[in-house]
Amino acid sequence: MTTKLSVNINKIATLRNARGGDVPNLVKFAKDVQAYGAQGITIHPRPDERHIRYQDARDLKPIVHTEYNIEGNPIQKFMDLVLEVKPTQVTLVPDAVDAITSNAGWDTIKHKDFLTEVITEFKNNGIRTSIFVDPILTIIDGAKAVGTDRIELYTEEFAHQYSLGNTKAIQPYIDCAARANELGIGVNAGHDLSLENIQFFAKEVPNLLEVSIGHALIAESIYLGVENVVNMYLNKLK
Ligand code: PXP
Repeated sequence: MTTKLSVNINKIATLRNARGGDVPNLVKFAKDVQAYGAQGITIHPRPDERHIRYQDARDLKPIVHTEYNIEGNPIQKFMDLVLEVKPTQVTLVPDAVDAITSNAGWDTIKHKDFLTEVITEFKNNGIRTSIFVDPILTIIDGAKAVGTDRIELYTEEFAHQYSLGNTKAIQPYIDCAARANELGIGVNAGHDLSLENIQFFAKEVPNLLEVSIGHALIAESIYLGVENVVNMYLNKLK
């Protein structure tokens, strides 16, 4: 099976915001990466709007003709935005307001009632749900209990270990994806995936539906060009 590539375009917004103008243009960038073959666009608006602004989520809606994925912590402001924009998928992330980037998955047992309520609201509005989780079997069982359509496996630890040559670090991801598959939950993955580690990860993890990749993809594009890099990912995900 082919794993879909969703390009996280937060870094493009960061670059734009550094000068306060509209260069690079986020909408054009999203159109271009889709034209190059990416099968999804991901954004992660944070409450301080330091990269993606809430208005960006609205501006992107008419031009994203692939999978539109909006990630974030489901505070009321975020929920209102997602319910207004109606992307293909919402990915719930328990990130603190001041976190540099997402740094933990949900405790699906502790936050069962909250997650169930939020997930039900999104699903009732026709939006597919995914929740960001660490690769822990009890957390995957908890994900089933809250009714999510998908999980997104938090891959930072895998990426770190893989860079050290520890390929065995893939095992919890294989086990958790297999459990999710058994339970009828779809599996996405993201965080610190790169041209270096993506092929191994996607080959080993069963039925990986989608990866969202931002930081490495943009950094690699500085040297190799965006179109080229998107195609390199697509080839590795085949
Ligand atoms: N998934 C989630 C939930 C994230 O918060 C991020 C970073 O915004 C990513 C995936 C993408 O991670 P990276 O930028 O390291 O590719």
